[in-house]
Amino acid sequence: MRVLFATSEIAPLIKTGGLADVSAALPAALHEMAVDIRILLPGYPQVLKALPQLRVAAEISLQPNFPVARLLTGSLSNGVPLLVIECAELYERGGGIYQDEHGLDWPDNALRFGLLSKITALLGCANSPLDWKPDIVHCNDWQTGLTPAYLHFSDGAVPCVMTVHNLAFQGVFPPQVAAELGLPDECFQPDGVEFYGNLSFMKAGLYYANHITTVSPSYANEIQTDALGFGLQGLLTYRHENLTGILNGIDLTEWDPATDPNLAHPYNLTDISGKSANKRELQKRMGLHVDPDLPLFGLVSRFTPQKGVDLVLEIAPQLISLPAQLVLLGSGDMEMQRTALELAHHYSGQISAYVGFDEALSHLIEAGADIFLMPSRFEPCGLNQMYSQRYGTPPVVHATGGLIDTVVDCNAASLKQDIASGFVFHNMDTLSLLATTGRAAIAYHDKKTWRALQHNCMIKDFSWGQSAIAYHHIYTHLMRR
Ligand code: ADP
Ligand code: GLC
Repeated sequence: MRVLFATSEIAPLIKTGGLADVSAALPAALHEMAVDIRILLPGYPQVLKALPQLRVAAEISLQPNFPVARLLTGSLSNGVPLLVIECAELYERGGGIYQDEHGLDWPDNALRFGLLSKITALLGCANSPLDWKPDIVHCNDWQTGLTPAYLHFSDGAVPCVMTVHNLAFQGVFPPQVAAELGLPDECFQPDGVEFYGNLSFMKAGLYYANHITTVSPSYANEIQTDALGFGLQGLLTYRHENLTGILNGIDLTEWDPATDPNLAHPYNLTDISGKSANKRELQKRMGLHVDPDLPLFGLVSRFTPQKGVDLVLEIAPQLISLPAQLVLLGSGDMEMQRTALELAHHYSGQISAYVGFDEALSHLIEAGADIFLMPSRFEPCGLNQMYSQRYGTPPVVHATGGLIDTVVDCNAASLKQDIASGFVFHNMDTLSLLATTGRAAIAYHDKKTWRALQHNCMIKDFSWGQSAIAYHHIYTHLMRR
């Protein structure tokens, strides 16, 4: 089975969020199952610098709609083959991969990800310049959303899967962009790529893909509702027989408290004592009072309304009077960044904040915090709550999407069944969040309950195994059709 997996980011080369983690771990799991999988991604400077051994496999000219590009081949350190699109004009620049240094979307994003979508489709149809031809094309999020549309109008196209990691980002552009990117006029209609008069990359993917997946079973249901369908609930409901929710796994090697090089002290399920050394290190590094007994709440997140970071900032003064400490890591919304830094300044020693992206610190927080905070308004899957459970740090989560699929609320019944693994709240407001952090702090001080919770968290299976098999089934099914 040959699969082309197209993505706009991959850890550790280039990452803004969970899509990068999944784009590394899922292909690796499928590769281990003997799937001949190749990852296609844009040649950002970070990628070209990290992989100097790439070789040119083809020159690609899709003029007049796109600039000339070259296809480079190589492989990741784990042996998974990689295809990189070299196009200096579109991908080699400073700033972020989606936005410039001021946080504004690059004005040529339609062209940048139109090219990624187009080349993905090219490799999956009769005109491919490569000898290697996939049986299945697997697209991820809006950045590869046009691929299924291009494939639909190409000769000898193979079937494709579209995975929704986050429906909130759709890649919507003015209507004239459709023709500029070489899409046939006939697809610019409601039964096609048109979305309220504009071109929607995400809708194109959802409309034309042979199968749609999303990253948790609960989110698969939620995106068919008005509340979380972001305007695409009608299409998703119409396509529900071709829509599957498959829970993400996590990379158990990358996220292992027994071997994690970012920790001050390793620990594992049988000897969790090393966890306290990480708490001390985190408190020291972040300028918090070194106190082994106060519950330390941790948060690692993009600062956006999606993640409910605003609620955490709002309750922070009451949270620390539980009493407790709070450590924040994240970046994004300017107002949230400013508030986080102000709180850290005002409550120095009790609250600390680092604004920026810091992979090593994120690992130390997962290990050094006692309780992890993830009060997302919606969450397609969420990886941090799985990392935190693996690190024996029970999470406080809102009952939504992948959070509800991966965390079992701590109560008398779940404790008795040995399945309690965190604290779940149902109303998205400060009162519920505060009450639930209070519940977590009380449990933290009850040593027996806390050990049981940590144990339940750490023995959970978050591996990719079952999920990779579920993707394999979908590929097989599409190949047979
Ligand atoms: P999302 O993809 O919506 O941001 P996920 O929970 O799926 O949410 O994945 C987020 C990933 O990004 C995790 O690996 C998390 O540790 C990481 N992350 C988010 N913000 C930061 C940050 N400021 N520094 C380091 N890692 C971060
Ligand atoms: C998105 C979602 C997140 C998910 C990740 C990987 O960024 O917001 O919930 O875990 O993709 O699928």
